[in-house]
Amino acid sequence: MPEPASRSVFEPSTEGVNAYRLLTALVVPRPIAWVSTLDADGRGNLAPHSFFTVASGKPPVVLFSTLGRKDTVRNVEATGEFVINFSSEAMLEMVNASSAPFEHGDDEADLLDITMEDSSTVAPQRVAESPASIECRLERIVEVGSAYVVFGAVTAITVRDDVLVDGHPEMEHLRPVSRLGRDEWGRPPEVFHLTRPKRPDDVL
Ligand SMILES: Cc1cc2nc3c(=O)[nH]c(=O)nc-3n(C[C@H](O)[C@H](O)[C@H](O)COP(=O)(O)O)c2cc1C
Repeated sequence: MPEPASRSVFEPSTEGVNAYRLLTALVVPRPIAWVSTLDADGRGNLAPHSFFTVASGKPPVVLFSTLGRKDTVRNVEATGEFVINFSSEAMLEMVNASSAPFEHGDDEADLLDITMEDSSTVAPQRVAESPASIECRLERIVEVGSAYVVFGAVTAITVRDDVLVDGHPEMEHLRPVSRLGRDEWGRPPEVFHLTRPKRPDDVL
């Protein structure tokens, strides 16, 4: 038996341990939800969130988490709607630029020349260039410490036709970038196929 590898143990309650740094470096790669919203006065807002995943398939619900009460969460509270826009490799600089701390009421899409178009089922617009988007109505917001976890009931999933192959969104067309730790980003993943075991005998 090989010697077990030595391990460092980090407890969040210990002085000097930066749990956020460790978690964001380990929970990778994270997909990026580029969230478009409207404020109560109808002004647009666009900001990336990598604390993002599917919460439920039936009913279809997605979630993202805002660390602090930022514009995105304030807008969702005010209007009850948002759109998650997906971004491909070519859009990386725009996604990053839209994360700058603009003033409340500033429209990142306007300021950064990002073309928006009407969504299908909700008022916030979607990013025209996005390969796909998920339109959502607010399901609930759960506060976890200083974070706001926003759950959205999916009202429509839109996918550009040039991304679909036999009705399936193809990775080679989506070409998503992802967020890793610190200032690291991930390029589109290499894809391979593996069938899932249907019964224990398949793997024993
Ligand atoms: C790729 C990327 C992912 C990010 N993910 C998150 C996230 O999951 N949660 C969060 O609160 N901020 C995240 N940020 C930072 C926000 O985008 C940034 O604070 C932004 O200014 C928030 O905009 P808002 O005030 O318009 O909501 C991320 C930034 C980048 C570049």
